[in-house]
Amino acid sequence: MSLRERPNHSRFHASLRRAVKSLCVVIVGLSLVMTPGKAIQNTRPISYDDLPAELSGWLNQQGVNRENFAARISAIRRQTEERERIGEFDHLIFYLLQSSRFTELARIEPALSAYELVHSLGEIDRAKFLAEGSVFVPSSDKIPKTAKARINQFIAALKANRKRDDERLNYFDNLLRKTTSPILPILNVETLLSAEYLRAMRFLYRKEFASRSIKPEDLAAYVASLYQTRGHSTDTQIEANFVIHQALQVVKFSSPQTKLNQVLIVGPGLDFAPRTDLIDLFGPQSYQPFAVADSLLSLKLAEETKLQIHCVDINDRVIAHLQNLRQRSEIRLSILSGVKESAAHPIVDEYRNYFLNFGKSVGIESKLAVPDSFSAHLSKSLRIRREVVQAISAHRLNIVTERFADSLRFDLVIVTNVFPYFSPSELLFALTNISAMTATDGYLIHNELQTVPSNFVNALGLPLRQARTVMITSDKAAPLFDGVAIHQKTPRL
Ligand SMILES: C[S@@+](CC[C@H](N)C(=O)[O-])C[C@H]1O[C@@H](n2cnc3c(N)ncnc32)[C@H](O)[C@@H]1O
Repeated sequence: MSLRERPNHSRFHASLRRAVKSLCVVIVGLSLVMTPGKAIQNTRPISYDDLPAELSGWLNQQGVNRENFAARISAIRRQTEERERIGEFDHLIFYLLQSSRFTELARIEPALSAYELVHSLGEIDRAKFLAEGSVFVPSSDKIPKTAKARINQFIAALKANRKRDDERLNYFDNLLRKTTSPILPILNVETLLSAEYLRAMRFLYRKEFASRSIKPEDLAAYVASLYQTRGHSTDTQIEANFVIHQALQVVKFSSPQTKLNQVLIVGPGLDFAPRTDLIDLFGPQSYQPFAVADSLLSLKLAEETKLQIHCVDINDRVIAHLQNLRQRSEIRLSILSGVKESAAHPIVDEYRNYFLNFGKSVGIESKLAVPDSFSAHLSKSLRIRREVVQAISAHRLNIVTERFADSLRFDLVIVTNVFPYFSPSELLFALTNISAMTATDGYLIHNELQTVPSNFVNALGLPLRQARTVMITSDKAAPLFDGVAIHQKTPRL
């Protein structure tokens, strides 16, 4: 019921309320100007009543109803924690196999190590190891010699306990200290690393090789099921932001006066230890907040004095990285494209131009010195202006289970490479939270054309407005594409 509908309301109370409301608006406005990127404190869990009533039948088929909803949310929280733990150990194993910061041994491509391991197993053990939901673990003697040698060098580097300037190695050292017993730490570390190596290789083999024997019509469902249960990864590449830029160009073209000053990025990620092509010439970096700011400012979709980029993530390492940016004396991004250019994989002009112009609205660029082995990547160094860093804030929030309770609504929500980690019902919960936090006429932009069902977004008042695929490299055999979808929040009826 609105204030005006209440029968016993005196005019005095109504005008007092209006005065308080305007004062609040002024205070909120002032605090945004004075403390850009201000942390938002209040969150609240999703409730069953937040979900669209018209999807209750579908939810019921998924085993979700009013009675078990709270238990379901608690279970998602617990599973998220476990998937976070697994994800951090995946990153550790990928680092251990590829990094040159603690050993001179040749780097190992993790998927090839998985192949070597699986093909060293007898037929019965191989089938047991790869079976769906299997807990069978082969003996650690089966770990390929090359991987074993790297595990040993990694442990030796930890034992040496030298002062190191490698943020990744320090992080993994702390992670292991927290996980293993202080009584027999090194023995435990070796056992733990062997077990984590075997677990990580099982996932990689199933994704990269076992998937090849799946019928084409079942492949998407197979890969989707792997992602919905795997460990959470924080991997990020600059390419993810190219499609966002393309989408924002569409918004600018179709609605030139739009201003998108309040922005939410769900899962900005941190380039820490990807499962392939680890580049650890530079420390860990998060690109998306800067890339989104750059696109909005260059397209004049936001004003620098008003722009606020709020980032939410479930990973403490990502949050800590973003929160610590403000304390640093200088923020310099060392940017290498994820894609490499070659005659067989030509980079399309649109992506090259995006990369060339990237960062001009948020910083000052210079040439990036990289070894010859990286000459096929596009590269640049970018010193970010302090005002831009000040506009970025980061908060721990699980988009599936909770939302900000503040009245602040976002003009733009960006989500790339996050939705595939959610089961269909988790995706509905996440979209419900996103829709509630999006301002009327505000946008949701994501890159999962296949993953987001139209009945979800229509029921949530976030219908699809535009969608397109975008080419990044134009190889004849296997061009590299990404997709982008633009949804717009409709006014409440
Ligand atoms: C694969 S990374 C993608 C990073 C970046 N968006 C990109 O496209 O390059 C996924 C990120 O989403 C975060 N994430 C996963 N599930 C989440 C959830 N339920 N709520 C918030 N963040 C989540 C992960 O911690 C990680 O940082």
